[in-house]
Amino acid sequence: MSREEDRKFIRNFMAVIGVLVFVAVALILISTGLYEGESEARKELAAERAARHLEPVGKVRLTGEPAPASTGGGEEAAAGGGGEPRSGEEVTGAVCAACHESGAMNAPKIGDEAAWADRVDKGLATLVDHSANGFNNMPPQKGQASEEEIRAAILWMVEDQSGVEVPQG
Ligand code: HEC
Repeated sequence: MSREEDRKFIRNFMAVIGVLVFVAVALILISTGLYEGESEARKELAAERAARHLEPVGKVRLTGEPAPASTGGGEEAAAGGGGEPRSGEEVTGAVCAACHESGAMNAPKIGDEAAWADRVDKGLATLVDHSANGFNNMPPQKGQASEEEIRAAILWMVEDQSGVEVPQG
């Protein structure tokens, strides 16, 4: 091959390489453009999912159930407004069962006599206080039910359903 032919070959070869590089860069730009559009949507979805997963357990409220007592909770909420306090069974179904039915986070289960027997010695007042304001793994329940309703729910879960008597105090 002559030098002339070599040079021609190299020129063509460089031209082809140049076109390929151009195409590669164009594809990179196009794909990052596409990916950015998608990643916004993905970020939103991820944030939405994270928010959903971070919601407290037991916040579910089924249609037809009464609205929660004001976050102030306490007797005032039950006495002042919001109508009749719910029965222990109703409160349990609406609020407490989310954990105490399944034993989520080691909550003592409804009907588990031994689990409750270990706890009732503290007395009803302390149990109400622990439920309203939170205790170890149990988040405060006072936003979900008044103190009166919490007391009724404890008596229903522990005395009626688990057969363990709760001492006053
Ligand atoms: C988010 C889950 C959750 C919900 C909802 C919940 N509990 Fe609990 N509860 C727990 C867990 C977990 C424990 C065990 C706490 C521990 O000792 O670690 C517990 C413990 C208790 C105890 C024993 C406290 C003590 O001093 O030993 C009582 C009483 C109680 N719950 C009542 C209620 C009542 C009444 C409701 C509804 C108004 C309720 N809980 C709703 C998770 C929950």
